[in-house]
Amino acid sequence: MSYQPETLLVDIQDRIATVTINRAEKLNAINSRVLDDLRQVFEALHEDDSVGGVVVTGTGTRAFAAGADIAELNNLRIKSGERASAKGQAVMSLIESTGKPVIAAIEGYALGGGCELALACHLRVASRTARLGLPELGLGLMPGYGGTQRLPRLIGKGRALEMILDGNPVDAERALDMGLVNKVVEEGKAVRTSREWLQLIMKKAPIAIRLAIQSVHAAYPNRAQGFQDEARLFGQLCGTDDAREGTAAFLEKRKPGFHNR
Ligand code: COA
Repeated sequence: MSYQPETLLVDIQDRIATVTINRAEKLNAINSRVLDDLRQVFEALHEDDSVGGVVVTGTGTRAFAAGADIAELNNLRIKSGERASAKGQAVMSLIESTGKPVIAAIEGYALGGGCELALACHLRVASRTARLGLPELGLGLMPGYGGTQRLPRLIGKGRALEMILDGNPVDAERALDMGLVNKVVEEGKAVRTSREWLQLIMKKAPIAIRLAIQSVHAAYPNRAQGFQDEARLFGQLCGTDDAREGTAAFLEKRKPGFHNR
């Protein structure tokens, strides 16, 4: 691959690309640069016939990705918030429509935007230490990378609202029970299991894999409006004092004080 991403490691072996978010010091939080790098890498992988499948993961065993970068979220206002959400959504949709199977290999936290990245992948393998959640409401925000659209489709509206409103991460066994992840493996084994699973899947004809994924997505029509609504509402929240307070409180390591309305 000619493109050299700043925030990702890309390793291609046996026709499988492993894309690793490499910001361990920030628990692999997804900043704007990570989104740009993911876009460039997935555009290249889409075109690359020598790659038949992709694993997405994070450096280390502490986190797959602990969310969108809260320092960046703190600076957003209504319009910039809507644009940031639309940008994240576009990258997640690109991953979802890559045309080859993409598996999220989850060790540790997959929170907020990190959970939404996992949701955009076709399959999810979690280690026993994995914790998946959407804690954005605790920041005065809401999921903005397609999570309000993909989560209810995957696990049903009731459970999606449970995760979004209560914000408590679920452990790997509960995630398996809910259908939020497909397999649970021992700590440190998520990438290896994902690669082995891809090797089995990739024995099928690539064109059949691609068209089957496309056909499954066709079962969920009229998606555009939901994504647009999510971006607009996310932007609206970015314009509130509560979003500023919630994100500042996280960065200052204190509890937020929200308005009572
Ligand atoms: N954005 C930016 N920085 C983040 C981050 C995020 N989403 N998640 C973690 N970090 C940073 C922390 O600020 C800290 O940086 P510092 O060492 O410069 O202070 C570093 O990563 C380690 O995180 P820390 O909170 O100290 O680790 P912990 O083990 O005490 O807690 C979590 C781990 C995942 C529970 C906690 O980091 C967390 O709640 N993160 C935010 C989750 C979230 O709300 N995500 C949704 C955003 S869309």
